[in-house]
Parts: sequence; C-alpha cells; structure tokens
Amino acid sequence: MTLAPQTLASLTEDQLALLFDEAHTAHAFTDEEVGQNLADKVYELIKWAPTSMNNQPLRITWVRSEQARGALVDAMNDGNKDKTAAAPLVAILSADANWFEHFGTFAPWAEERRAFFESNPQAAAKMANNNAHIQAGYFILAVRALGLAAGPMGGFNAAKLDEHFNADNGHKSFLVVNVGYPAQDAFRPRGGRLDPEIAVRTL
Ligand SMILES: Cc1cc2nc3c(=O)[nH]c(=O)nc-3n(C[C@H](O)[C@H](O)[C@H](O)COP(=O)(O)O)c2cc1C
Repeated sequence: MTLAPQTLASLTEDQLALLFDEAHTAHAFTDEEVGQNLADKVYELIKWAPTSMNNQPLRITWVRSEQARGALVDAMNDGNKDKTAAAPLVAILSADANWFEHFGTFAPWAEERRAFFESNPQAAAKMANNNAHIQAGYFILAVRALGLAAGPMGGFNAAKLDEHFNADNGHKSFLVVNVGYPAQDAFRPRGGRLDPEIAVRTL
C-alpha cells in the first residue's frame, strides 16, 4: 500500500500512548518467547525509516543461542548482566562504517559519491554513527509498535563485545536492547521530562 500525501492519517491516542506516553523502558520480562517472525518484522519496519542519503548503516545481531548469550552477558556492565541473561531475546545494534559499499542499492542515482566516502574513512564513520543511532530510535519504537517492550543499554564493553561478535566485519556495537513482554516488576519510576520551555523553541 502506498499512501498518497493527501491520505496521510494519524495514529489514535491509544496507539500514540503505546509508543510514547504509556511506554516504559523494560528491565524485566516474562518467559514468553519472542518468535523470529516478530524479530524479522522489526527490521522489515525500520528499513523504511529515513537515513542520510538512505544509507542505512545499522546492523542488527539477534542473540538467541546459549553460547552467544554467554559471550554477550560477559561484555555487559555488572548492573546490566542479569537482565540481559534473562531476557527472551536480545539485539546488538552496530554501525557499519563501510555502509558506502551498498550505494548501488540505497542510492544508485548518487553512486559517484561513493569514492568520496571510500577515501574519507572519518567522514564515513561519522555518517555511520549518526545514522545508526537514528535507526536505533526507530528500532525501539518498532519494538513497541509490535506490542513488545524494549530495554536499551549502553552500559557494556564495546571492544570486548566487538571482539566476539564483530571481528569478521568491523562493525562497531553501540547499543544492546533486551526485547520481550514486560514482567510485573519491569518498569522503574518515570524520570522527569523536560518542559518544552527548556527543550523547544519556535522562532
Ligand atoms: C542509549 C541508551 C542507553 C541506556 N543505557 C542503559 C543501561 O546501560 N542500563 C540501564 O539499566 N538502562 C539504560 N537505559 C535506559 C534509560 O535509563 C531509560 O530508557 C530512561 O531512563 C527512560 O526510562 P522510561 O522509559 O522508563 O521512562 C538506556 C537507554 C538508552 C536510550
């Protein structure tokens, strides 16, 4: 289905609440499994969300096997170990600094720009980092939109994690996200949100 601009609709208040005001970061999950069909759906949704030049540098590693989970938990900070060990499914989000190799797919009309990024690894890495972080936001919202809860964590040893999971591809991990159905004690008290007077201005 392709929506013409004049047919754009809005989510209902309940749907918005599921994504934003009622949604919480989850720190504990029920034992209910998260099937691969749902995991696959997360990517099928977020691949459509915008990135610079459509460059899509986010790489997702779903961690399911006991062996992979052990290595992941080992790289997590102490306060994040137990919940990462217990979550039904965990994703490692990484950025691919060689995203320009896929120019022919994501922007074939601009492929002449590939040479610039190939010879400017710093610029390529910055683009990878910025856009993968944007995609991580989409990832969390897609998890929520599918009726699941997300527990994003930046507290881990990225060098250690990359040594185990990304040695063959050079991707740089930047976020680990626990995914599942929230347990009774999943949520922490809400921290305050900034007033628009601080965070927003209209000129
Ligand atoms: C980039 C990022 C890194 C985070 N790192 C951690 C972490 O290492 N450990 C943790 O327990 N929570 C972590 N959090 C969770 C945040 O503290 C939480 O999302 C925030 O306080 C909002 O909580 P709420 O959704 O319940 O309102 C992280 C969240 C994000 C988005």
